Amino acid sequence: MNVLLLGSGGREHALAWKLAQSRRLTKLYAAPGNPGIAAHAECVALDHGHLDAVVAFARDHDVGLVVVGPEQPLVDGLTDLLIAEGILVFGPTAAAARLEGSKGFTKDLCAREGIPTAAYGRFADAGAARAALPGFGLPVVIKADGLAAGKGVVIAETPAQAEAAIAGMFAGAHGGAGAEVVIEAFLQGEEASLFALTDGETVVPFGSAQDHKRVGDGDTGPNTGGMGAYSPAPVLTAALQARAMAEIVVPTVRAMAAAGTPYAGILYAGLMLTADGPELIEYNARFGDPEAQVLMMRLEGDLLDLLLAVAERRLASLPSPAFAAHTALTVVMAARGYPGTPEKGGAIGGIAAAEATGARIFQAGTAMRHGALVASGGRVLNVTATGATVAAAQAAAYRAVDRIDFPTGFCRRDIGWREIAREG
Ligand code: AMP
Ligand code: GLY
Repeated sequence: MNVLLLGSGGREHALAWKLAQSRRLTKLYAAPGNPGIAAHAECVALDHGHLDAVVAFARDHDVGLVVVGPEQPLVDGLTDLLIAEGILVFGPTAAAARLEGSKGFTKDLCAREGIPTAAYGRFADAGAARAALPGFGLPVVIKADGLAAGKGVVIAETPAQAEAAIAGMFAGAHGGAGAEVVIEAFLQGEEASLFALTDGETVVPFGSAQDHKRVGDGDTGPNTGGMGAYSPAPVLTAALQARAMAEIVVPTVRAMAAAGTPYAGILYAGLMLTADGPELIEYNARFGDPEAQVLMMRLEGDLLDLLLAVAERRLASLPSPAFAAHTALTVVMAARGYPGTPEKGGAIGGIAAAEATGARIFQAGTAMRHGALVASGGRVLNVTATGATVAAAQAAAYRAVDRIDFPTGFCRRDIGWREIAREG
């Protein structure tokens, strides 16, 4: 079967690497892909913002499954267009992708279904939002309703910060995403990510992970798309995971099906592990980046089989996905300046030497210039290794990091620190 993978980040490199191992695969296309993905796929210059061009490409190249990496094409309805053409696709329809595309939609669903999540309000104008603030205490969380590339959340410590965030969002700081604002109570606890694979009816857990959102060691500095991750997340114990599935994920999938908008794809639940149990922070309608990199390092069996079964609504016919017991840990090497404007064009060497240690280097913001690999984005490389413990996986990942020659890059040196402190 021919497969078309959409996206160009480290998440897609990890998916491409795993898809390329499938016994079902005839040819993998990636659009637009990157130099790392090019080792596993034919990269095609196709802009996945042009939905009709994607559909035409899939039709013309006998593509049996389209795998959508990022959220924007899902929210924009690419899946609906492909289904209308009779082309199988892994990723939810626009109506189902509202679980990521509208925070207010998801909060209302949680309220109706009794799914544990922070108390909230939805506001369509700044005056009403400001007037509601005193009811939430401090800190208070202000969110743009729509997709904002991970930047639409402000945790305000003072009323002045909260009012400034509200004013900024309604003034268009996140474009149309901020036309509506959600205000939430602040949840206390540790965050963990739980992934579930679902075809709309059958729902199976698909691994857990912890990300590191802040740019600096010790979780300091501005938020990023994620500076490193490990899987599994031992803090999400088997008992807590079972609760999160039963109280959060499964009722969501049931509610989406009952509403006539079944959710099929990967459902990524961002959880806060509070004193009262897991609560939902947010959903994503796609794999996490860099969480996919660590999940793919542990996934056993054939990824394409699983994704196809989801697209064909027959997930129940497959055995549950299996993951290796070891820990996988990834360190993001970013270009200087990230998460602000990253320095582009910096030379990258040492990938083969790093992989010779047993690590795997997934590429994100890279490009080929005059035959040499250079940085072309904020997050550039994902140095990924495995180990029997988080500490062992961390040591293996940094051994590989130290073989990479990327003078204009940087990384955190403490990925996994919370769990390593607990491992003692
Ligand atoms: P989101 O984009 O909704 O995942 O929010 C980004 C980050 O903001 C999350 O990963 C949390 O660290 C934090 N956050 C979001 N909502 C809350 C909340 N209600 N309480 C505490 N922290 C939150
Ligand atoms: N690493 C966070 C995300 O993919 O949303």
